[in-house]
This record gives sequence, structure tokens and C-alpha cells, in this order.
Amino acid sequence: MLQGKRILLIVAGGIAAFKALELIRRLRERGAAVRCILTEAGTRFVTPLSLQALSEDRVYTDMFSLTDESEMGHIQLSRDADLLVVVPATANILARMAGGLADDLAATVLLATDKPVLAAPAMNVRMWTHAATVANVETLKKRGVTFIGPNDGAMACNEHGPGRMSEPAEIAAAIESMLAANRPLAGKRALVTSGPTREAIDPVRYISNHSSGKQGHAIAAALARLGAEVTLVSGPVAVADPPEVRVVRVDSADQMLAACLAAGRVDVAVCAAAVADWKVTRTAGAKIKKKAGALPPALELAANPDILATLSKPGAKRPALVVGFAAETEDLVANAIAKRGRKGCDWIVANDVSPAIGTFGGERNTVHLVSAAGVENWPTLTKDEVAGRLAARMALHLAGPRSAEAAE
Ligand code: CTP
Repeated sequence: MLQGKRILLIVAGGIAAFKALELIRRLRERGAAVRCILTEAGTRFVTPLSLQALSEDRVYTDMFSLTDESEMGHIQLSRDADLLVVVPATANILARMAGGLADDLAATVLLATDKPVLAAPAMNVRMWTHAATVANVETLKKRGVTFIGPNDGAMACNEHGPGRMSEPAEIAAAIESMLAANRPLAGKRALVTSGPTREAIDPVRYISNHSSGKQGHAIAAALARLGAEVTLVSGPVAVADPPEVRVVRVDSADQMLAACLAAGRVDVAVCAAAVADWKVTRTAGAKIKKKAGALPPALELAANPDILATLSKPGAKRPALVVGFAAETEDLVANAIAKRGRKGCDWIVANDVSPAIGTFGGERNTVHLVSAAGVENWPTLTKDEVAGRLAARMALHLAGPRSAEAAE
């Protein structure tokens, strides 16, 4: 069943486009919400009206419509979907995907998406066996696109051979298995901390740090995509709430700890927040005023609670896997190994936050995963990629030692 799943159907211009109508009906019967993008060529084969009537949603056709961009940007179309399905995947759209083109809404969404993509090819047999298409399919498979079909049989062009699009029932079944297979954390609860904390000096001033929350938020999103029920406890950040995640907003470290404990029992916890180490002992109730000739106020600081260490404490309520971050500017790996021991967590994701690297607020991250098994050096990846890889590793770990070993 596909209850609650959201599928973005990209209908391209091929004779098999009519099968998209039957596919929508089957997906909706299984409980999925379907939204369609129809390419310009696609409009020659099916009308936006029939797609709209069957999906009971708007059909998106024009990338440069200002209304579309203000109401529903192309990025949002992908964000709102669990899976993108290209039906029919014509030789042309496969070539555009392989080439990374963004020359219409469909191609742009396919380039901008971080969601799984299923393609159901349909074309003339010689187009399918042409070296260009073979190479494009190869490239797309390497990038993680899943293919269904084409089937062998008689085609509209009076030829016979591979090129017929899979039947809607087959595509619906493939969608079901893809969405089930991609949710290894279904039924698991996850807690993620993200962003900085703010420690108030008085009602208008605070101590904080440069954390943007990008990495922590990306981890919450990645765990949710794998099916986990995620609570994200976030300090003040400018990044958007990840989809399908319960977000609890806090300011101070004390509030962050209280929110983490209130989240109840979880299977995994990831502490990605840059928690301020110290808070001001006596926060002034009113704004501290400057007085002519007087010395600046002396701030007395006290240690904040260590959230990661608290969550890592042995006991019945301890999550099965606790992951911390180590933000270091020197002796990265050695400090991370020591930090793992000190905090009692299972894994430490060590990242270099020297200003020259640009981790804080930047899009990319170079990390090292420190566990009992040793140190893994990951290549420089985007923060979303780090999140996806970490979430997948966590899922593997929870699945048990045998599956974890199989993947090593
Ligand atoms: N952390 C936490 N609560 C704190 C401080 C840190 O939960 N009060 C967590 C962070 O979320 C991160 C890890 O601990 O997962 C490491 O934080 P970091 O600031 O890098 O290390 P510190 O413990 O502050 O150690 P040091 O200042 O020596 O680097």
C-alpha cells in the first residue's frame, strides 16, 4: 500500500503517455497522492485536463510561469515528493537527464531532486538499442536512477522488440517496492539536535556561535526519508524546517536538553547542534545600561549541561545508537577519538571548522567517521550527501551486525 506517499509523475512526450492515466488511477487506489509535471511534448499525447482530473491536483507544465514559481518553486515540487517517476522515459528525456540539462520544468526538477527516481522507458527498439541511449541509461543507473522495463513486444511503430513501456500495474508494483525498500528506519524514532544555542546576557544580548543548522537539518531530513519518526530540536536558525519532521524550537542549551529529554525514548540520537559551552550565571532581567566612566560589566559564566554526554549515559533508556559531532580546528581525528571516549557516544562525526575550510554556513563538509571500528575518512561531500550517507549507515547499524558487515 502507498498510504501517505507522494509521487511526482513526470509525463514526457511519447505514445505510451496514455498509460500514465491508468498509472495515476492505480497509485491513487493504493492511497498515494499523485502530482504531475507534463512536458511540452507530453501535451501532444495527453491533456493537462485528464491528468488533473485523475490526480485531483494541479498539473505543472511551464517552468517560467511566475505564478508557479511563487506558489510552488521547482525545488518545492521535488521536496514535496517521496519519489519521482518518469513515464514514459523517452530517449529524449533520458538524454537530457544524463546530460544534466535544465531546459524545461521536468528536466530542472530531475536535476534538482535528491529523491529516488524511477524511469519507465518507452521508445522505438532502435532508439533503445542505440549506443547513445545505452550510454545514457548506463550513466543514469550509476547515478542511482532505477529503471523498469522496457518490455519486449509489438510497438505502436509496427516494430517488435524491447521498447514497450511496462504496464501500469508493473510500474505501480515497482513503486511500492522502491518506497518500502527505501524506508529501513520505518517504525524507528530518531532525535536530532541542530543549530547554535543562544545564552542570554540580558533581554537583548546573547552569547552564541556561527552554526547554521544546515548539517543537522539535513540529517533530520535524511532520517525521515528513510522512514524514521524524527524530532528535531533546533536552536535559532535561518534554514527551513525539513519535511515530515517534528521541529521543536529552543534558544538555550538548558532548553535544548529539556526538549531532548521530553522527546521520550528514541532508537537513535544525533547531536549536531553547536551547543554553547557556557551560559551567563546571572542573566539580567532588564537591558544592561552603559554608565559613563564605569567599567564594562564582568560576565560570570557557568558550564552548560552536555546534551550528548547526557543522552549517551548507559541505562535502559539509552538510544541504541548515539552520534556526536566534533567541530575542531586542530588535531581533528585525535581530538575526535578522545571526545568519543569522554562523551560516551557510539560514533563521532569529526569535521574541520577552520575558517579557511568554510564549513560553518557553507554547503560542503569533509568529515571523518570515528567509531569503535576505527576511523573512516569520507570524501568532501555536500552536507545533504553527508546526511544521506550517515543516515544510511545508521540504518545499516540498526539492522544488525550481519548487514553492517555485509556493507563494509
Ligand atoms: N554537545 C552537546 N552539549 C554540549 C556541548 C556539546 O550536546 N553542551 C555535543 C555537540 O552537539 C557535538 C559534540 O557534543 O555533538 C561535540 O561538541 P564540541 O563543541 O565540538 O566539543 P566540546 O564538547 O565542546 O569540546 P571542546 O570544547 O573541547 O572542543
